[in-house]
Amino acid sequence: MNNIICAVLLAVLMLTHPFCVGGVTLCIASCLAAVGGTALLGTTAILPAIGFASSGITAGSWAAAWMASFGGSVPAGGCFALFQSAGGVLPPLIEEADLTDWCQMSLICGRHGNLIHILGSLGRCLCNEGFTGSCCETRAPVTKTPIITLISNKTVVEGTAVVTIACNAEGIPAPVVTWEEIDAKLQPNVRQIGHFLVIENVTMANKGYYICTAKNRVGTEIKAVRLIVTTKTSRPYAAPVISAPSTVKVRYYTDARLVCTITGYPEPTVKWEYSKNKTIPGAKISGGILVIPNITSEATGLYTCIASNDIGSSRANIMLEATYESPKFVSSPQSYSGNTGAPHNFTCTATGHPVPKITWMFSSFSNHINKLPQHKIHRNGDMIELVNMEESGILTCKATNAFGIATAKAQVIVHHSDCNHAQIFYVIKKSQKVG
Ligand SMILES: *[C@@H]1O[C@H](CO)[C@@H](O)[C@H](O)[C@H]1NC(C)=O
Ligand SMILES: *[C@@H]1O[C@H](CO)[C@@H](O)[C@H](O)[C@H]1NC(C)=O
Ligand SMILES: *[C@@H]1O[C@H](CO)[C@@H](O)[C@H](O)[C@H]1NC(C)=O
Ligand SMILES: *[C@@H]1O[C@H](CO)[C@@H](O)[C@H](O)[C@H]1NC(C)=O
Ligand SMILES: *[C@@H]1O[C@H](CO)[C@@H](O)[C@H](O)[C@H]1NC(C)=O
Repeated sequence: MNNIICAVLLAVLMLTHPFCVGGVTLCIASCLAAVGGTALLGTTAILPAIGFASSGITAGSWAAAWMASFGGSVPAGGCFALFQSAGGVLPPLIEEADLTDWCQMSLICGRHGNLIHILGSLGRCLCNEGFTGSCCETRAPVTKTPIITLISNKTVVEGTAVVTIACNAEGIPAPVVTWEEIDAKLQPNVRQIGHFLVIENVTMANKGYYICTAKNRVGTEIKAVRLIVTTKTSRPYAAPVISAPSTVKVRYYTDARLVCTITGYPEPTVKWEYSKNKTIPGAKISGGILVIPNITSEATGLYTCIASNDIGSSRANIMLEATYESPKFVSSPQSYSGNTGAPHNFTCTATGHPVPKITWMFSSFSNHINKLPQHKIHRNGDMIELVNMEESGILTCKATNAFGIATAKAQVIVHHSDCNHAQIFYVIKKSQKVG
């Protein structure tokens, strides 16, 4: 009798609302419980009766009209398409408005998920992480193999009262942590407390490797820590002492190396500070050695190294200065007189820091031409070859770097084969004025 009541209720529901019933046992059971039915789905007659036949939707049936009210075409994968193609097997979809009342579906789904709308008023459960099923009723198993975080070594002084080493292990389910000494049982003064290895009154016999194992039902991880025991009297404790130069001079655009030589026990840790800035731009620090690349005036100033250990701390200042040299000539071009058409080399070498750049200029006596006559440049610019010696004038060599300019001049006297004495005289007089 209940089945009939339930079937009638369902039919009424179908006539008044576009409607689909959840396909999962829980949903159906809950729905049926709410409507008072126990084996509604057994009553498959209701489906063919309203037009959902195993061959499809019966023409002229309620189901056909119902489908037509949705425009006749049903999106693939939609509720009705499923319903239609299933031919009586109910799809895993839920109609929110009705089932909230009738089956408290939204409540079922809402415990571990939310109802979402995918077609009109039809709903489906969107499950929270870790839950699956049409009503989010299945808890997905979440597991994680253990991961251990453990220091690689620890140094202690013989006689230390208590040493603890933590083996932090993560995993789902929470892993079980065990400590062992490699190939041996823990010595009497070594214990495991929780995930800690605890060693009391450390002796030389305690040195070696200790193994931490973390295990859960999905995996095992193992890590080792080396315990280094140093003798008590091996070295006297001493506060840090620094020796460092008070000034370091470095040429522009080279690297500066500031060195603090540090003694002390236990081994002091070293920090560097720079008076102009919190951070030292471009610096590479390796303990007591600070390397600053490509020095410019920006990096000059006061640097401080600070060394500390358990006993004390100490600091030393180093002033960094950048040096430079303006260009100076080592050799300058020599005046020369020669015949037209015969080539001649003029050289000009300058030192300086940064290395100066050499440029050549020419000014002609006769027609104030300031263009270099036909020439070749040799030795990276240090040598110019006037290939034709076509013109008399002043040849200027200019050496330039960021910190200065130096110039050197040489007279170039050219004898034209057909020139007369008067012309030569004129040229020499003029050149003397210039020189
Ligand atoms: C000890 O551990 C530190 C850091 O954990 C590491 O830098 C060092 O190399 C280790 N020393 C030895 C002897 O394994
Ligand atoms: C460690 O030494 C202290 C003092 O000598 C002693 O009281 C304590 O019992 C010792 N602990 C172990 C585990 O040997
Ligand atoms: C300090 O260093 C930062 C980062 O290197 C740099 O941007 C800033 O210009 C520096 N300030 C001075 C005053 O040198
Ligand atoms: C050094 O710095 C100068 C000026 O900032 C730059 O022109 C030059 O390329 C740098 N040299 C190196 C080797 O980084
Ligand atoms: C000038 O020097 C270049 C390079 O050293 C050389 O090849 C050339 O023959 C020289 N010219 C004269 C005229 O000495």
